[in-house]
This record gives sequence, structure tokens and C-alpha cells, in this order.
Amino acid sequence: NAFLIQIENLVSSTNDIVKAKSHSVPYVDSGYCCLAEAQSAGRGRRGRNWVSPYASSLYLSMLWRFTGGHQAMTGLSLMVGVIINETLQSLEVLNCQLKWPNDVYHEQKKLAGVLIEVEGQVGATTSAIIGIGININLPANVQGINQAFTDLSSITKKPISKNQLAAALIHKLWQNLPIFEAHGMAPFMARWKDCDLYYKKHITIVAGDKIITGTGNGIDNTGALLLDINGSIKAFHGGEISVRQA
Ligand code: BTN
Repeated sequence: NAFLIQIENLVSSTNDIVKAKSHSVPYVDSGYCCLAEAQSAGRGRRGRNWVSPYASSLYLSMLWRFTGGHQAMTGLSLMVGVIINETLQSLEVLNCQLKWPNDVYHEQKKLAGVLIEVEGQVGATTSAIIGIGININLPANVQGINQAFTDLSSITKKPISKNQLAAALIHKLWQNLPIFEAHGMAPFMARWKDCDLYYKKHITIVAGDKIITGTGNGIDNTGALLLDINGSIKAFHGGEISVRQA
């Protein structure tokens, strides 16, 4: 079988490369990856850009083809957050937390993010492009990141090998995505809960022009965020809401 890993120097966005590949002939299988040293137009969630300087982070995108359409992907971004955290743990990067839906935090600062882009259904499959950015060693003078951030070199005393991180992450995704495809979020629920940044915390949700406050109460098996609002539990779905600690 063909190699599933493409390594580039500079690309617009690794998600673009994998997206183009998902439509090309010959047909590439689930698990196809692109890694790049730098991105000129890295994207974040909610229309933000993702600052992507040279050789200072992991920029990885992976294709996964789902049969069963959009429904089969419910909770995917949360599952990917769990896998990033477990990969970091395997490299002795401990005490990371997951901020719903899928940011990886360390001591209240963002370490990694996930951007999933979904392609339309072709035949029986719908393709997800899973984009992952993990800060490794950002330049001291990095500009344009408008939130508190950290990187692996600030967290660990010993340097982390980018190759080891990439290999471990790809391996864990290849192992766990078939499990997710077969069983959905169920096998990942407890693992999410173990590192939920907002569990039992007072939080604020901004949804359009509505601001709602309550206490984080974990997630349900569709990946929705559960909020305890004066004793009644309400579920929040979707990527167009933002959450912060109240
Ligand atoms: C976020 O937290 O807003 C998501 C950030 C996702 C960044 C990664 S880097 C690799 C892939 N290519 C992109 O353009 N974005 C994702």
C-alpha cells in the first residue's frame, strides 16, 4: 500500500493539502497525513488565523473517511483532544487539560488546537480533515497570538523531539479513529472527563448575542457541553459558541 505521510517545507495550510488530496486520483485512504515545517495561511477555529512560524510547532492534518455521514463524526473533535492529551502524557507532558470542545491547555494557557473541516459526501463516505497544531518552541518574539499561550519547551525541562511527537500522535490517531468509528464517543467519555478544564467551574457561554452563565458539568455522548444552570442541566452544541471561565 502507498505511503500515507506527506512532509512539506512551507504550505498554505496542511488542511488545504489534505483536502486537495482527498479529491485526487488515485483515491487516498483514511489516515493520509500532511506535516509541514511552516504554514503561510494557517487557520484556527471560528475564522481565526493560526500563527505558524518555521519549525517551532507541529502542523499536522489527517484525512479520515467516515461511512454514515456527518452523524458518524459526532464528538470527533473531542476525541481528537483526548488523543492529543494522551500522546503528550506518553511523552511525559503531564497535567494538560481540555477546554471544550478541543483546545489543549496547560496552566490556563493554550498549548494546542484542533480544526476539523468536513468535506461533502462522495459516494458512501464523508471526509473529515483533522488539523492539529501543537506549540513546541515558539520564537520569543512571536506576534499575533491574541490569547494566553504556552509551548512544550516552556512546560518540560528536557527537549521534546518533534519527530517523536508526530510519530506518537499519528500512531494513536490511527489506532483510535477506527474505535471511534465503531463506537463513537463512548470509549472516550471517561478519558475526556479526567482532563476537563471546566468541570465544576463557573463558566460563561457566549452564543450569538446571548450570554449564559453556569457550572460546567462535563459532556454528553454527542460531545455537547453540559452546563448546570441553577440546578437544571442544559446541553450546548456546535462550534459557534465560545466559552470562558466566569
Ligand atoms: C484552533 O485552536 O483554533 C485550531 C488550530 C488548528 C491549527 C492547525 S495547524 C495544522 C492545521 N492546519 C491549519 O491551517 N490549521 C490546523
